[in-house]
Amino acid sequence: MKLNKIGLFIFVAFLMVFVVACGGGGDSSSSGGGGSESAPPTDVPAAPVGDAAKGEELFNSTCIACHGQGGVGIEGLGKSIPESEFVRGKSDEELLAFIKVGRPTSDPENTTGVDMPPKGGNPALTDEDIVDIIAYFRTLQQ
Ligand code: HEC
Repeated sequence: MKLNKIGLFIFVAFLMVFVVACGGGGDSSSSGGGGSESAPPTDVPAAPVGDAAKGEELFNSTCIACHGQGGVGIEGLGKSIPESEFVRGKSDEELLAFIKVGRPTSDPENTTGVDMPPKGGNPALTDEDIVDIIAYFRTLQQ
């Protein structure tokens, strides 16, 4: 019995040392865990780009009257988009800004003597719609 009591004491003492050690270990592992929380997040989605298929539909309802089927241009009306160095050389943001204001005949940069109306004359077009049309233009230029 005496031995058992000593054994129990040693056991309890050992248990306490173990718990304390574990507690200390827990602290250090939780700070290690903090380090792992800074692991890089999953893929960040790419900048939104227009939907060329939707852009083609919008082009066919608003711009085709002057720019023609496939944007090839119509003599005396809109210019060719596939051949346009202007479209090729501008960023999507610049084209969006351009299409919103158009290029009236009063603009010294006007090359045809015909108005390019703001938003092609369709004020209902949103920025998103125009970005879709620009995505369609990019497919025409490839
Ligand atoms: C009423 C006819 C008309 C409509 C409709 C029209 N455009 Fe135009 N667009 C023009 C004309 C004319 C020009 C050329 C202006 C000039 O002389 O520089 C032009 C030029 C452009 C250019 C610049 C091309 C270049 O090489 O300089 C872009 C881009 C363009 N239009 C996009 C559009 C889009 C997008 C739409 C539909 C939302 C649209 N246009 C609707 C007449 C039109």
